[in-house]
Amino acid sequence: MIVRRSTVELDKLRKSGLLVYQILEDLKRLAVEGATTHDLELAAERMIADAGAKPAFKGYYSQASGTKYPYVLCTSVNDEVVHGMPSAKRKLKAGDIVSIDTGVQLNGYFGDSAVTVPVGQVNDSVRRLLKVTEESLELAIDRVRAGNRLFDVCGAVEKHVQSHGFSIVREFVGHGIGTSLHEEPQIPNYVDRRGENPRLKPGMVLAVEPMVNAGKPDTKVLGDKWTAVAKDGSYSAHFEHMIAVTDNGPWVLSRP
Ligand code: MF3
Ligand code: CO
Repeated sequence: MIVRRSTVELDKLRKSGLLVYQILEDLKRLAVEGATTHDLELAAERMIADAGAKPAFKGYYSQASGTKYPYVLCTSVNDEVVHGMPSAKRKLKAGDIVSIDTGVQLNGYFGDSAVTVPVGQVNDSVRRLLKVTEESLELAIDRVRAGNRLFDVCGAVEKHVQSHGFSIVREFVGHGIGTSLHEEPQIPNYVDRRGENPRLKPGMVLAVEPMVNAGKPDTKVLGDKWTAVAKDGSYSAHFEHMIAVTDNGPWVLSRP
């Protein structure tokens, strides 16, 4: 069942979304040459605590890994697709890209958003990967409308990414979000005809998160049980927003 949220609930999700936005804005500025992903983690921990919120990822148990995720951020560098773990040993260098993904819980309602940023100068093909992935999210956002169906959203990502010759990661998907971090429906970044194709209705809130590889789509999870990397070592980009279906079209909760 896909929960439909009241306007009061949407306002709470909005607050969580804006908190995540503010954190990511600050972290983007900290993701410079010489900084470590642990530096980002420390800053995020402080911002979440200062806001009176709780981290959504830290302590999150995943069936697939059989462990609890130990950090407030996922920092996925270069060929890391998602769930990269912050580390004092991971120093960012010019030419890297880093996906910064974080979630919060505020007054019982969750926020979740991610952005991938370049560190220093990156080459043209990497810039194109980031641009196409972000564009695919924007096209998907525009499909989050009452009366549309889930596949309209999934298909928008798929079509844009395919047409630019990049690959869609299939092992990880977006999700509904509300009083849990992960709610129904699952939101693949491609049309999965084996899955459900519900009609979108006002009050539904979707976290759409395209994960796109420059090379082949295949991923594998490292020995730490979390870090997913592109099998072929190619760069991977990831953007995420949470979007409410309203009578007036898509409402992106995770940006002003
Ligand atoms: N944005 C990702 C997601 O929504 C990050 C989850 S990390 C985890 O699934 F630790 F919470 F699993
Ligand atoms: Co998410």
